[in-house]
Amino acid sequence: MAVSIKTAEEIEKMRIAGRLAAEVLEMIGEHVKPGVSTGELDRICHHYIVDTQGGIPAPLNYGNPPFPKSICTSVNHVICHGIPSDDKILKKGDIVNIDVTVIKDGYHGDTSKMYCVGEVPAHLQRLISVTQECLYKGIELVRPGTRLGDIGHVIQQHAESNYYSVVREYCGHGIGAVFHEEPQVLHYGKPGTGLELKEGMTFTIEPMINAGKPQSKVLGDHWTVITKDRKASAQWEHTLLVTRDGVEVLTRRQEEPF
Ligand code: MF3
Ligand code: CO
Ligand code: CO
Repeated sequence: MAVSIKTAEEIEKMRIAGRLAAEVLEMIGEHVKPGVSTGELDRICHHYIVDTQGGIPAPLNYGNPPFPKSICTSVNHVICHGIPSDDKILKKGDIVNIDVTVIKDGYHGDTSKMYCVGEVPAHLQRLISVTQECLYKGIELVRPGTRLGDIGHVIQQHAESNYYSVVREYCGHGIGAVFHEEPQVLHYGKPGTGLELKEGMTFTIEPMINAGKPQSKVLGDHWTVITKDRKASAQWEHTLLVTRDGVEVLTRRQEEPF
């Protein structure tokens, strides 16, 4: 299957879904504090998406076995796909990725950011910052003619030059009416290789960067992905549109510099 090029009508729907997903991340920030459970954060996001936004949380019942909650909450050494739970109480010094995907009018917006729970050690703040820089360096390269290997390379280069490692088993993805579609967007690679970007493509970049070694494993719940060495991991994600002369960040938040 070829990579889809979105029509003007589809792009307008992607803009709306992307904005809603970004607004969920903006809304939930003030709730992320010591003592709150990830189950409570899930309920707040679920009700906001369904009741306020008139959207559908894409993770709920997604995949096999069906994902049981409406957002992913990945704490400390959890790389991605953490399942919210009333038993998981956040404490001062934790770091948590909240990953939100909203479906609106049939189209998806997918985005995640890192939150600090109270005061967080400097080494974790640095992991979070470098991982966000990896995402931003990837986004800067998005325009017609860039190849996916160029994006993977700049992310890998930045992570490894800071003595971190890139998770290989999970990647960014094409997105539209389908949650995960072609192409796969690897967060490592070689310049000048891979798919050439064209105007109208929509995809995510969502680097997962580990403080220690890159290896991951999936827990017995079939979803939660952790670092094998139990060292911390960080992730940031945006949904992007390739425009005639560059990129539109469909999930941009107001706090961001672009
Ligand atoms: N939002 C994740 C991504 O960035 C996918 C989560 S799938 C779920 O692609 F089922 F775990 F929610
Ligand atoms: Co994604
Ligand atoms: Co996501």
